[in-house]
Amino acid sequence: MKGVVFNLLEEAVGRAFGPETWDVLIDASGVSGVYTSLGNYPDEEIEALVAAAMAALSLDRDQVLRWFGQNAIPVLAELYPAFFTGSEDGRTFVEGVNHIIHAEVRKLYPGAACPHFHMHTDASGDLIMDYLSARNMCALAQGFVEGAAAWFGQPVDFRHLRCTQQGDPQCSFALTWSPMAARDEAA
Ligand code: HEM
Repeated sequence: MKGVVFNLLEEAVGRAFGPETWDVLIDASGVSGVYTSLGNYPDEEIEALVAAAMAALSLDRDQVLRWFGQNAIPVLAELYPAFFTGSEDGRTFVEGVNHIIHAEVRKLYPGAACPHFHMHTDASGDLIMDYLSARNMCALAQGFVEGAAAWFGQPVDFRHLRCTQQGDPQCSFALTWSPMAARDEAA
């Protein structure tokens, strides 16, 4: 996993709980705690930090990953504003995760092993996303989507239809997007 993800986790934890909480997690997980954004670090280290957060907060792995995704988005929006201002709404932002966001991420962070999402719109208009990654971080994806929905002010109903952790062959989500708040009409 790229160091930038560890940097993001540190920033999200620091903002929510204070910087000393990051040190507590580092100590509890036994990881080095030194991460450069371009470096590559074993997935076991992010899992050890997540496990330490699970123990500290009495949450399960999915809850910690989902919290991380939700809280990473405001940080990402400060670090990479163009990814956000380039999308007209939350749905468009999420639809661009493969060919815009993660495509740019791979240029910025060579060697990044970003997940892939198969996407289509079903007959009801829902966005169907299949999550393809050996990392089993579907809850992180959910958190990113929910964080983006909050950032854009476009509520989303996120349903986890299938999950590899429940024995399904792949993870699949259905997203029902509400209309954006009518900022222009209100003006
Ligand atoms: C809705 C939007 C997004 C979704 C659903 C999403 C999903 C994910 C997930 C689930 C992972 C964990 C790795 C895995 O599952 O294999 C990941 C990794 C990553 N994502 Fe995204 N992401 C989103 C937006 C972003 C944005 C805005 C950025 C940065 C500007 C970003 C940068 C990264 C990076 C750097 C990694 C690590 C790849 C690696 O270490 O090899 N993502 N993403």
